[in-house]
Amino acid sequence: MERYTKPAVLLHWIIALLIIAAFALGLTMVDIPGLTPTKLKYFSWHKWMGVTVLGLACLRLLWRLTHAAPAYPAHMPQWQQKAAHHLHALLYVLMFAIPVSGYIYTLSAGVPVVYLGLFPLPVFMAPDPQLKPLLKLVHYWLNMTLLAVVCLHVLAALKHQFIDRDGIFKRILP
Ligand code: HEM
Repeated sequence: MERYTKPAVLLHWIIALLIIAAFALGLTMVDIPGLTPTKLKYFSWHKWMGVTVLGLACLRLLWRLTHAAPAYPAHMPQWQQKAAHHLHALLYVLMFAIPVSGYIYTLSAGVPVVYLGLFPLPVFMAPDPQLKPLLKLVHYWLNMTLLAVVCLHVLAALKHQFIDRDGIFKRILP
């Protein structure tokens, strides 16, 4: 069966690991009371990971727009092919929307983002105390949506591997 190309496989797994790390760090850092040096360090790491995800998501979208994903086997039911297609589209949307919402939230709080502590990223809006709580909620709920979508994605992959045994999961393995 046709496989994903090497760049697509590499991007898939690097982005997956970075998203899991940024997600776990995000939940951990917001629970640290007060404003300690550790908390600030974690906030910076979280933002750098998120910005990296955004950059890699751009590369991935570029790959996707220039390559067709491998076709599904003919025996896979139409509804499953459609569901997979929509779920993947939603994952693409969230890969962009989550980092962008975090970035805008940070700017609304009046904090510039300095990538890796070296490269100041564009400040394209003034601090906005009214928008700030709304953007925080948006960032949070987009993340909870991602959690649900990723759970479905993983369950579907496991079903293909262990129940259908159709080799679909292997197409994205390194
Ligand atoms: C894949 C990318 C990202 C993921 C998965 C992610 C995930 C999360 C999660 C799970 C939280 C905890 C939410 C809560 O419990 O309130 C969080 C908080 C936060 N994120 Fe992200 N995030 C990402 C990208 C970014 C980016 C790019 C920035 C900024 C440049 C950012 C800035 C923040 C900030 C400032 C908070 C703390 C919110 C607060 O003040 O409580 N995030 N993120």
